[in-house]
Amino acid sequence: MRETASVGPAVRILLPIACLLSMSVSQIAVADPRSDYLLHCAACHRPTGAGLPPDVPTLIGELGRLVGIPEGREYLVRVPGASQAPVSDRQLAAIINWILTELNAETLPADFKPFSADEVARGRGNTLADPMNYRRKFWGDDDY
Ligand code: HEC
Repeated sequence: MRETASVGPAVRILLPIACLLSMSVSQIAVADPRSDYLLHCAACHRPTGAGLPPDVPTLIGELGRLVGIPEGREYLVRVPGASQAPVSDRQLAAIINWILTELNAETLPADFKPFSADEVARGRGNTLADPMNYRRKFWGDDDY
């Protein structure tokens, strides 16, 4: 039966959405960074942050070295997935800070300063057209 064949993909798409919707409304309304991450980033970077290398980079343990220089701080909010997410500057700052402190604590520079909404606003207004090239320019040919 043709309908049966289409059930698989539909379930794969609908199930995560159903899980998100089943979270209590108050949890979504409070919009803590982890919920925002799950809503706006996890579809590609996976709920754990592990991504799907080489297509989608991991967000675990690799970003500390990127935030050590100004170009790297910018990069984190200029990649299209981050800069164009439908969240406020304050929310995006909170998401990035959450990713850095929760998933990259061990590689963060000792003098790491959290992102402010203003810094995010400046960076995300300038979305990177070619993130891979920018990344290579500053961090060599490292794979994700
Ligand atoms: C549609 C899929 C998708 C979504 C949604 C997405 N990203 Fe990404 N992200 C990517 C891809 C693909 C890359 C690799 C660079 C590129 O091609 O844009 C990337 C790169 C990144 C990087 C750079 C990592 C590195 O090591 O170079 C960061 C940081 C990042 N994303 C954060 C986020 C955040 C934060 C969100 C949610 C607000 C998000 N992304 C949503 C697909 C996505």
